Amino acid sequence: MLKSCGRKLLLSLVGSMFTCLLVLMVEPPGRPGLARGEAGGAQRALQSLGAAAAAAPPAAQGPPGLRSFADYFGRLSRARRELPPAPPSPPRPPAEDISPRDVFIAVKTTKKFHKARLELLLDTWISRNRDMTFIFTDGEDEELKKQARNVINTNCSAAHSRQALSCKMAVEYDKFIESGRKWFCHVDDDNYVNVRMLVKLLSSYLHTQDIYIGKPSLDRPIQATERISENKMHPVHFWFATGGAGFCISRGLALKMSPWASGGHFMSTAEKIRLPDDCTIGYIIESVLGVKLIRSNLFHSHLENLHQVPKSEIHKQVTLSYGMFENKRNSIHMKGAFSVEEDPSRFRSVHCLLYPDTPWCPTNMVY
Ligand SMILES: *[C@@H]1O[C@H](CO)[C@@H](O)[C@H](O)[C@H]1NC(C)=O
Repeated sequence: MLKSCGRKLLLSLVGSMFTCLLVLMVEPPGRPGLARGEAGGAQRALQSLGAAAAAAPPAAQGPPGLRSFADYFGRLSRARRELPPAPPSPPRPPAEDISPRDVFIAVKTTKKFHKARLELLLDTWISRNRDMTFIFTDGEDEELKKQARNVINTNCSAAHSRQALSCKMAVEYDKFIESGRKWFCHVDDDNYVNVRMLVKLLSSYLHTQDIYIGKPSLDRPIQATERISENKMHPVHFWFATGGAGFCISRGLALKMSPWASGGHFMSTAEKIRLPDDCTIGYIIESVLGVKLIRSNLFHSHLENLHQVPKSEIHKQVTLSYGMFENKRNSIHMKGAFSVEEDPSRFRSVHCLLYPDTPWCPTNMVY
């Protein structure tokens, strides 16, 4: 039952970013001692968590009365769905005057999605923020280079495996450090970034402080095992910001991450805990460096019910997304410049709301 449910979920998310949440939801309970090395990267990531779950003592798996790890996460995600939307965080006073030029936004994509996903972003939010946006992909595309200012071919594999994703995150990190900018933000190719709100949010912190901000996809810390040596494991638990909603890291903190993140180190760190890229970032920051994730409900991924973003608050969100959630088309609800048929992601409508002077936006639109 669980397995078929997992398969359905996987099917519904084909082509979308896979995060720890998925890893946890699709893994059948308690399958210890899985052979290593026979499966691809993504499969191994799934297995490693199953093994982690099996290795953890029952007390560490959640409230009493739950039979299995999968049960625990099943209840967790149900509870999460039933939660009312969190109240907006009170605005913080500005701490530092920054401009968009101080922010490095890494957009992770793959060659297959240059047309299907990136064109929408290039037409909308990236068109207003070319200098701060860096596209990380895995294949040459002369057309894309003409449209976007900063395109980086990571030379990473185009597979949607844990290793390929970590490979891209490693290049993103190195390019950010090289850029000398104050803030690193990572988003996926299905995110709309409201740059004005992003800059406003970041300017309420100092870039020299240790800041890691984003939205967790679980309402508990993730449990994992650190491989200390070939047969020595150590349980760890930490929060991480889901990559599918976007997250940001201050330069001060990014520099401290260097021994675990720069050069080839990010990939070996990801290997050590056998988790995807966004979880590995959380591991380095929370577990290794002891810095806490700052939760923001202004970041949104397609793994949450986007209908819950209040219409009156859309212009205040930092990131938005679209895609599939629980087998249904998922997007924010808004009456906008374009119909749902013309603009299923709602990104063009959002863009016209934020930048009504865009040439292709209808004039005299009343919201
Ligand atoms: C990818 O390979 C090309 C050609 O060898 C090289 O010029 C480029 O710097 C590489 N990209 C990265 C991010 O290493």
